[in-house]
Amino acid sequence: MIFTSSLLLFFTCTWMLSECIVEEDIYALVGKEAKLYFDYNLDWNNINIQNDGGVLASIQKKPTDMKISFSGKNGIDAKSLPETNKILVTIKNVNSSYNGNITMLETTTGLPLKLWRVHVLEGLPANPVIKGSSPTWAGQDYELNCISDSFGVVSKYLWYKGGQLLTSSTKYNVTGNKLTIGKIRPEDSTNLTCVLGITDDIRSNNSAVFFVNVWHGPDNITITSEPPGFTVEDGKPITLFCSATCNPPCNFQWSGLVTAMEASIKVDYNASNQNGPYNCTATNPKSAVTNKKSHIVFLNSEKYVTSAIIKTESTKDTSQEEGGVSGLSSGGRTKDSNLLALFYMVLMISIPCLKTVV
Ligand SMILES: *[C@@H]1O[C@H](CO)[C@@H](O)[C@H](O)[C@H]1NC(C)=O
Ligand SMILES: *[C@@H]1O[C@H](CO)[C@@H](O)[C@H](O)[C@H]1NC(C)=O
Ligand SMILES: *[C@@H]1O[C@H](CO)[C@@H](O)[C@H](O)[C@H]1NC(C)=O
Ligand SMILES: *[C@@H]1O[C@H](CO)[C@@H](O)[C@H](O)[C@H]1NC(C)=O
Ligand SMILES: *[C@@H]1O[C@H](CO)[C@@H](O)[C@H](O)[C@H]1NC(C)=O
Ligand SMILES: *[C@@H]1O[C@H](CO)[C@@H](O)[C@H](O)[C@H]1NC(C)=O
Ligand SMILES: *[C@@H]1O[C@H](CO)[C@@H](O)[C@H](O)[C@H]1NC(C)=O
Ligand SMILES: *[C@@H]1O[C@H](CO)[C@@H](O)[C@H](O)[C@H]1NC(C)=O
Repeated sequence: MIFTSSLLLFFTCTWMLSECIVEEDIYALVGKEAKLYFDYNLDWNNINIQNDGGVLASIQKKPTDMKISFSGKNGIDAKSLPETNKILVTIKNVNSSYNGNITMLETTTGLPLKLWRVHVLEGLPANPVIKGSSPTWAGQDYELNCISDSFGVVSKYLWYKGGQLLTSSTKYNVTGNKLTIGKIRPEDSTNLTCVLGITDDIRSNNSAVFFVNVWHGPDNITITSEPPGFTVEDGKPITLFCSATCNPPCNFQWSGLVTAMEASIKVDYNASNQNGPYNCTATNPKSAVTNKKSHIVFLNSEKYVTSAIIKTESTKDTSQEEGGVSGLSSGGRTKDSNLLALFYMVLMISIPCLKTVV
């Protein structure tokens, strides 16, 4: 039972009576049933269930088989539930006159044994709304709130991810009406809804769907060519393709020998002065200054050199930043440096001897 913890059982030991009174909050919708439960095993033989308006029900314990005899007002019923060892008193068609306390008194001793604080609700809670700073950058903790008027009643908030109830885990922390998604990643993009529950029966409808949109990238920047392998031949064109993943989609810009605003460029390779650099820069349109990566290619009939220059804020997730092919031969070098909040990485790799066939 999801709501057992929210039933708010208070055990108040009153010194005067040297007796423990169980107090419980009960919620019921106007026109529906209010259900009062108590233990058959409590120390009682004859009890009255009563409120300001008088006695609602009188119950007598029978010595065998958890049986009871009962008399009560119209619309009130009592039965024993042997499987749970409890007695259930049902008040049908409740109205606001039931707001307040209902007590259970042992009639022979006059001692109170249990108190229910009855809350009659005029209607279901309004549909909640999910609020979050949307969208968010990958790598950050992301916090969402389920907002609803809960009539000031202590309630349970339930979150659903793609229709499935979310339980707290290292990834998802559900605390009160707050959901925190730790170190959000692109693949955590999802549809969420939330529900406000007061009891198992009294719960709001689903909130509207909230799409968790994770901004990320540029990731995995790379340059490829057609013909492949950066094979160049004087007088033959070569097309360079730059790719990277971003959300929202990356913008691409070429600088160096060719200036262009597209993802691919065509080079009419006909002289060694066209060897390079061909510098592709991918930027995330939401943060073109900090979320930017470049990749450089030099064309050469003898060899080609690539280098990746990665410049992002250190607060961003840098784990997915690629450094290209690892050093293979003389001339390959790697340099890392942290400058203030900037993470700046330069990788220069040269791969020798991609000889062109003449
Ligand atoms: C509430 O219900 C009781 C019993 O069903 C009835 O006597 C009373 O008139 C009702 N009060 C209101 C305000 O409707
Ligand atoms: C109901 O009982 C509580 C004790 O749990 C008491 O503080 C409160 O005043 C009572 N309310 C009414 C309306 O009698
Ligand atoms: C969940 O969040 C609450 C408050 O935001 C925090 O106190 C608690 O430590 C977090 N739990 C986990 C498992 O991270
Ligand atoms: C979210 O819901 C929309 C439509 O309601 C659907 O198109 C989209 O694929 C869903 N996204 C995810 C990540 O489930
Ligand atoms: C909740 O959903 C039910 C059934 O779909 C609908 O009849 C009711 O109007 C909804 N309640 C609200 C507050 O939107
Ligand atoms: C980057 O490439 C790796 C390896 O192919 C892949 O696992 C990862 O999902 C890619 N990252 C993104 C954001 O596309
Ligand atoms: C060499 O290529 C450039 C452009 O890249 C072009 O303008 C020029 O005509 C070409 N020269 C020859 C000899 O093909
Ligand atoms: C490549 O282009 C980007 C964007 O214009 C620039 O920041 C970077 O310094 C360039 N790299 C080189 C090695 O010129």
